[in-house]
Amino acid sequence: MLRLENVSVAYGRVAALKGVSLELREGELISLIGANGAGKSTTLKTISGLLKPLSGRITWDGEPIAGLPPREILRRGIAHCPEGRRVFPHLTVRENLAMGALLRQDGAGIASDLDAMYHRFPRLKERAGQAAGTLSGGEQQMLAIARALMSRPRLVMFDEPSLGLAPNLVEQVFRIVEEVRLQGLMVLMVEQNALAALSLCDRAYLMETGCVVRSGTGAELLDSGDVRDAYLGGRAFAA
Ligand SMILES: Nc1ncnc2c1ncn2[C@@H]1O[C@H](COP(=O)(O)OP(=O)(O)O)[C@@H](O)[C@H]1O
Ligand SMILES: [Mg+2]
Repeated sequence: MLRLENVSVAYGRVAALKGVSLELREGELISLIGANGAGKSTTLKTISGLLKPLSGRITWDGEPIAGLPPREILRRGIAHCPEGRRVFPHLTVRENLAMGALLRQDGAGIASDLDAMYHRFPRLKERAGQAAGTLSGGEQQMLAIARALMSRPRLVMFDEPSLGLAPNLVEQVFRIVEEVRLQGLMVLMVEQNALAALSLCDRAYLMETGCVVRSGTGAELLDSGDVRDAYLGGRAFAA
């Protein structure tokens, strides 16, 4: 189980998270929603060790992990699929996938996971030897997801996985997220597409200007006035 208690983070003197508390239990799919700049990506970056909290506690299975280096967090089973499908553009698809498994020692397991990824994402198999930068946006997103899964995480965090994708690919991304969860992984998903995120998740947290302002089941948040207000005029309900 992952737990954030009162976590605060700043970029220089600009506060980005002001005492965020949330938790993710075994097998849960949690959505983090909220307007641009609310602190969603910052939350994920802090969990994955890219940012250090000023105060507060982050525990994973009861052990404090705040401030550990990113590779140590990854080694403990938390993978981060960052915003904007950050694949290594000059490396091939196969090399990108291998990077995901960099901290693993089990050669046979890596090989069989690679096969499984190629089975799940046939386009990546077709393009295994191609530089990742030459893939389409949708293919790069699939690669970023597959790379995160290659670490065999227990928790995978997706930052706006559907952003900028064509509608059929958006659907595919949400299907993959659901499959990942059905395999028993914990999922923490940031999404601008609140409607899709709330219908998929077990529970959700709504963030505003660095704070969690509401949490509950997806259905509860869909019914809540706050959530509708937060997105009035936004694109959250457009999709
Ligand atoms: N690298 C950065 N330097 C300074 N401020 C940043 C940086 N990244 C994000 N911020 C600020 O932190 C706040 C939260 O940003 P972010 O976590 O990216 O929001 P979200 O992902 O919810 O859109 C925003 O006010 C944003 O402008
Ligand atoms: Mg973001």
